[in-house]
Amino acid sequence: MNIDFPSALDPAHTGTRILLVGEGAALTPGAAAAEAASGGQLGRAMRAGAFSGRKGETLEILAPSGLAADRLLLLGLGEPAKADAALLEELGGKAAAALQLKAASAVADLTDLSGLALPVAEAAAHFALGARLRAFRQDRYRTKLKDDEKPKLQALAIVGAAGSAEAYGPLASIAQAVEFTRELVTEPANRLYPESFAMRVREAAEPLGIGVTILDEAEMRAQGFGCLLGVAQGSARPPRLVALEWNGTGNPDATPVAFVGKGVTFDTGGISIKPAAGMEDMKWDMGGAAAVAGALLALAGRRARARVVGVLGLVENMPDGNAQRPGDIVTSLSGQTVEVINTDAEGRLVLADAMWWTQQTFRPKTMVDLATLTGAIIIALGHEYAGLFTVHDDLAEALIAAGKASGDRLWRQPLGEVGSAYDKLTDSAIADMKNVGPREGGSITAAQFLQRFVQEGVRWAHLDIAGTVWKTKPGPTHDKGATGFGVRLLDRFVAAHFEG
Ligand code: BES
Ligand code: MN
Ligand code: ZN
Repeated sequence: MNIDFPSALDPAHTGTRILLVGEGAALTPGAAAAEAASGGQLGRAMRAGAFSGRKGETLEILAPSGLAADRLLLLGLGEPAKADAALLEELGGKAAAALQLKAASAVADLTDLSGLALPVAEAAAHFALGARLRAFRQDRYRTKLKDDEKPKLQALAIVGAAGSAEAYGPLASIAQAVEFTRELVTEPANRLYPESFAMRVREAAEPLGIGVTILDEAEMRAQGFGCLLGVAQGSARPPRLVALEWNGTGNPDATPVAFVGKGVTFDTGGISIKPAAGMEDMKWDMGGAAAVAGALLALAGRRARARVVGVLGLVENMPDGNAQRPGDIVTSLSGQTVEVINTDAEGRLVLADAMWWTQQTFRPKTMVDLATLTGAIIIALGHEYAGLFTVHDDLAEALIAAGKASGDRLWRQPLGEVGSAYDKLTDSAIADMKNVGPREGGSITAAQFLQRFVQEGVRWAHLDIAGTVWKTKPGPTHDKGATGFGVRLLDRFVAAHFEG
């Protein structure tokens, strides 16, 4: 879909015209102009359709008289003074969802609009972002789509809002990054495995000026990645560790903020194998790594003035004659030993080494990991919020605020210090720790395990995104499937706290 921002409405445009209407059927100037040109058709249609301009309400009017447009799409703004970026994105999303299969071209008329909670240029840009994100879908493997099943919407123009093209610039970088993340999350595991994942990230990252380092299996063995390699050893696909570096500060010695992602390209459970039902979902067990990669692309794309590193731990968890067994003891990169009770608790093993390497290599003061880590977080929070674990209240607040601003929402969960009651649940009788605790509080003990790999003085938070990476139903700014969760969150987090 092509998006542009002409300065004025072309009255001869024959496609769909999108108009905003406030609560109480209060016409915005663009809608009022259409009402006048059509001889009162909007008012009649709104009454006939019981449309009152409530937030998110929609009404279609086909073949309006007195206008070249073949369709009007009215969108309810609610109380205009409360219309914020999130609402504008939702309205853009509504327009895209309503028109995607029906209209080739659409024009949203924001002429003379004012009185919103944000400047009209920002409103136009967020409307465009919402439309683009909601319209995105992946039809790569559908070779037999019928014409009426194919997306038709080619062009979206948002007119009458001066400065909107400039406001959309950074948002377009973010949208492209979200789409990249969704693409990776959607790819099946026969096409996306550690090596191909690393290559695709490299191809996307380098042109933007992101430094890319890829460690292969031999290198990780030489350095002592015992936890990560234990997971990888049952797979025919060799593991990779990818480090992405973006420095927009101009200072090569600036302290970086670090993001670390779980990238299990397929999680069978290993020898502790998962049941067959739903196992196909485990192709998206790399959603944390995909979000971290996407976040780096977004930040570099909009030239963020911050130093940010992203590290991706990429492995496939398979059962095999060479796979690790329950009861095996591995030595992590940190030197601590782990008794592997359950080979399906593999994400924390991958992250333990990826996080340690991140800290020793880049010396960040703040580190956030993203991982589809536990089924238990889905039991706790469902699919609306991701779980947030940290002992640092200020970091929790900053992440929760970035979640609210971006729509990637977080809900804080308990985490004890090392040595606390929760922490002790992963003590082992034979090694420094075991990789699972009891069934109860499964997301908490997973987080406690990770915390044992956080170095002194590092402010760390863990995001368990197992419930938010993939949705079976569409939402305001995504179709069903991969959501791209985490990209916008990390972008906002960096914008609010690390760009001087
Ligand atoms: N990747 C899974 C977690 C998961 C489950 C993500 C469902 C998305 C949907 C993770 O590797 C896992 O298997 N966790 C186990 C941990 C258990 C063995 C302690 C789980 O949640 O059951
Ligand atoms: Mn698992
Ligand atoms: Zn997993």
